Amino acid sequence: MIERLKKRWEVSTKDLILILITFSVTGSLTAWLTGMLAIWLELEVYGFGWWFTKIMMLLVGYWVILLIAGFFFGVFSFFWKFEKKVLSRFGFFKNSATAIPLLTEDNSYSIAIFASGAGSNAQKIIDHFRDHAGIRVALIVCNNTKAGVLSIAANEGIPVLLLDKEHFNHTGYVNELKQQKIDLIVLAGFLWKVPPILIEAFPKKIINIHPALLPSYGGKGMYGSAVHKAVMDAGEKESGITIHYVDEQYDQGNIIYQATCHIDENETPESLAVKIHALEHEFFPAKIEELINQMKKA
Ligand code: GRF
Repeated sequence: MIERLKKRWEVSTKDLILILITFSVTGSLTAWLTGMLAIWLELEVYGFGWWFTKIMMLLVGYWVILLIAGFFFGVFSFFWKFEKKVLSRFGFFKNSATAIPLLTEDNSYSIAIFASGAGSNAQKIIDHFRDHAGIRVALIVCNNTKAGVLSIAANEGIPVLLLDKEHFNHTGYVNELKQQKIDLIVLAGFLWKVPPILIEAFPKKIINIHPALLPSYGGKGMYGSAVHKAVMDAGEKESGITIHYVDEQYDQGNIIYQATCHIDENETPESLAVKIHALEHEFFPAKIEELINQMKKA
């Protein structure tokens, strides 16, 4: 129940407790204030003024008190958002200039994972943020109808956007991502070069994970076992992972984080791939969270 509420309202446990306290305090406070008001105004019980005061306190007073109490308990923004949502159902705020801030005021960050392979990284990221208050995996974008990541999306109940090459350079899906309020795009095994149209729409909001230590062993064709083979053919003693921003060149955006692993004497590209995957699973979700926290502060 608590977990469901936290997820639904996208709040932390502490805020959830404060919100519930605010709700309970506000109910009794409104009832008490209504009674006091009736006495002070010397209203005849069940008379017109009495009923009018009661109804007004319920329709207006309660909501104002909710905001004031929310302010004192430090959860004002939750109640403000909540009230705006209720009011918008009655036609307020719609088509007005405040409609957009209402949506962006939401603190939760939505991640779209672009993946077209097995999706083991996607699964780790989904697991990491499953019960997270404020960050969620909202969408899987895929360009391969046979990709394992599609079954993961189905199991997790995460919507999928399937892309074909022709549409990748057009605005349609970019608008869709904007409409879905995607804040961060995470490439996790997505092999197509990201087009300028997407980079311009999400500046500094697209990151990738590469299974080697960039700037070496990156670029077109450097994926899967080809990377590990190239690293080993070059006689490297270590390899690793690189999390980096995506720009218009393959694997050349600014590096966010790297982790390394040793290449043993009897290493094979296959055994190296296992080590690299383990590093990716260990660090990628946590680094995404760190990055989002930095974005929230900026
Ligand atoms: C990972 O090794 C990642 O570095 C690369 O693609 C692979 C995806 O693996 N970009 P998975 O589909 O997440 O298992």
